[in-house]
Amino acid sequence: MDFTNKDLVSIRDLDRSQIEYILDLSKEMVPYARGEKVKRALDGKIVASLFFEPSTRTKLSFQSAAMRLGCDVIDVSEMSMTSIAKGETLADTIRMVNAYSDAIVLRHPYEGAARLAAEVSNKPVINAGDGAGSHPTQMLLDLFTMKEAKGTLDGLNIALVGDLKYGRTVHTLAQALTMFGVKLTLVAPESLQMPQDIVDSLKSKGCNPIRTSNLEDAIDEADVLYVTRIQKERFPDPTEYQKVAGTYRIDNAILKDAKDDLIVMHPLPRVNEIATEVDSTRHARYFQQAFNGVPVRMAILCAIMGGEM
Ligand code: NCD
Repeated sequence: MDFTNKDLVSIRDLDRSQIEYILDLSKEMVPYARGEKVKRALDGKIVASLFFEPSTRTKLSFQSAAMRLGCDVIDVSEMSMTSIAKGETLADTIRMVNAYSDAIVLRHPYEGAARLAAEVSNKPVINAGDGAGSHPTQMLLDLFTMKEAKGTLDGLNIALVGDLKYGRTVHTLAQALTMFGVKLTLVAPESLQMPQDIVDSLKSKGCNPIRTSNLEDAIDEADVLYVTRIQKERFPDPTEYQKVAGTYRIDNAILKDAKDDLIVMHPLPRVNEIATEVDSTRHARYFQQAFNGVPVRMAILCAIMGGEM
């Protein structure tokens, strides 16, 4: 399968066989991601890491992934430190970065920014999150985490919990999961339910999600509980945030009727959606999930930047 020089901007850039290819390659990357083996598949290449929104895991795991492959990283993390602060457009900035690197990883507060960047760049652009839009590399590491835990993705019972309106991770993940015939439950306060256009797209792919605001409705049957943070920074009105802040909190009491092998995932950062007492239970998978960002992003960089496998 050839990914060389392909952009990864949204779920539309991937089909099931391409996803499976990246997941298989990610598995091979694990010992290299852990530093137990050495692979310099991208020696001499440069990736540009542009993060115009806060990030810990995505940014550092991309940089770690690049470095594990011998790839150099140039980076900017604040628009105020670029010529954007002088009035340069994102398009012009990307044209410049394009000339200094072999691939661009971009996180940006505006939905559509990565698509715009991909249009003006002749180097591949990887979307590391565009506003409330998409987060395709997170989706891949989420699928990888589920598959590692459950052995398969097909037919899983998955509950997505929290801010389904503004959460870009769940927007991308829900659409990817339709390729695997999963049973999906969307648990959110009514005002933060999954946008209708995404629900329509899920339905058109044969997935009829159950919508509820009651977390208990979803827990007993779930194989995976995917919890998200209420995306405070995307609320136009802070009082609207206050109304829904803290709606769901996963703790040991609420998990008592869960399946033995339920896994709890979260893209992180958590604020107070998961009590720390859950961290030491067999259900907790979110720290493993965060580590998985490294092998999965190694696979993505290697495939897109034409590394020797
Ligand atoms: C998520 C994001 O940035 O969309 N975090 C991440 O990439 N690991 C989720 C979030 O910020 O809540």
